[in-house]
Amino acid sequence: MSTQRIESNIKAVTVRTLHDMKQRHDKIVCLTAYDASFAALLDEVEIDVVLVGDSLGMVVQGESSTLPVTVDHIIYHGRAVARACKRALVMQDMPFMSYATPDQALHSAARLMQEGGAHMVKLEGTANQENIVRRLSDCGIPVCAHLGLRPQFVHKLGGYRVQGREQDGAAALLRDATHLEQAGADVLLLECVPSILAQEITANVRIPVIGIGAGNGCDGQVLVLYDMLGITPGKRPRFSKDFLAGGNTVRGAIESFRRDVKNGAFPSAEHSFQ
Ligand code: KIV
Repeated sequence: MSTQRIESNIKAVTVRTLHDMKQRHDKIVCLTAYDASFAALLDEVEIDVVLVGDSLGMVVQGESSTLPVTVDHIIYHGRAVARACKRALVMQDMPFMSYATPDQALHSAARLMQEGGAHMVKLEGTANQENIVRRLSDCGIPVCAHLGLRPQFVHKLGGYRVQGREQDGAAALLRDATHLEQAGADVLLLECVPSILAQEITANVRIPVIGIGAGNGCDGQVLVLYDMLGITPGKRPRFSKDFLAGGNTVRGAIESFRRDVKNGAFPSAEHSFQ
C-alpha cells in the first residue's frame, strides 16, 4: 500500500517531508480520520498527516475513554483510511496495553504497518518508554511519541488536565522530549501543555513537534476531526474550534482549518493554555 503511494505521481508526505517542513517553518497540518470517505476528503485538501487515533473509542464507539480500543479496531479503521490516502502520511495509534514491553510493542506495531497500512505509529510515552521507541525505530518503524496529557494514562493522571504547569512537571517534559528524540522518535506530539513550554520543547528538539492544546509555537497542529466539525457529543474541548460553524461546508471547514494552521491564526490564545 505505501509503495503504491510513493510510486504514484502525487508527492507523498514522508518522515523526511515532515522534517523538511520543520526546517522551512512550514506548519504541519494533521487531523484524525476513521473511514475512507473522510480520509479521501482530508487527502484532497492536502492535510499532511491523517491520524487514526484511539479517540475513535470515544467519537466513533461512544466509549467514555480510549482504554477499550484494541489493535484490531485500529487495523479495521486504519485500512479504510490508508486505502483512501494518496498523499497524506497515515499515522496510527498504538492502543492501551499494546506496547507494555518492547516485544509486545514490536508485534503490535508490525500489525499496524502490515495489516493496517500505517506509515508511522504513535504511542503515549515518557522517558520510561525509551526502550520501546528504540526497539521500534531500530526495526525501521517510524514513531511519534505522544507527551503531555496522555489520555491512556487518565486514571494515573487523575483526569484530563493540563500537564507541565509546575516547574518539576515542565522540566520532566523537556527531559522526556530529548530522551525520546535520542531513542529514535521521528515526531513528537504534545497534548495540553502551556504554550510557552511547548515552544521551548519545539526549539529544543530537531524532530517536528505537533501540538494539540499546546499553543501555536509548535511545528504543526492536530485536532480530532469530529471536534473541529462540532459533532462530538458533549462539551467541546477548550483547545478545539468548531470550523463548521457559520454555515461552512465540511470541505470548507477542513480547508479553513488548514489555512488557519498554515498562517498561524489557529490556535489563538483562546484555544491555548498559559
Ligand atoms: O487519539 C487521538 O485522536 C489523538 C489526538 C487527540 C492527538 O491522540
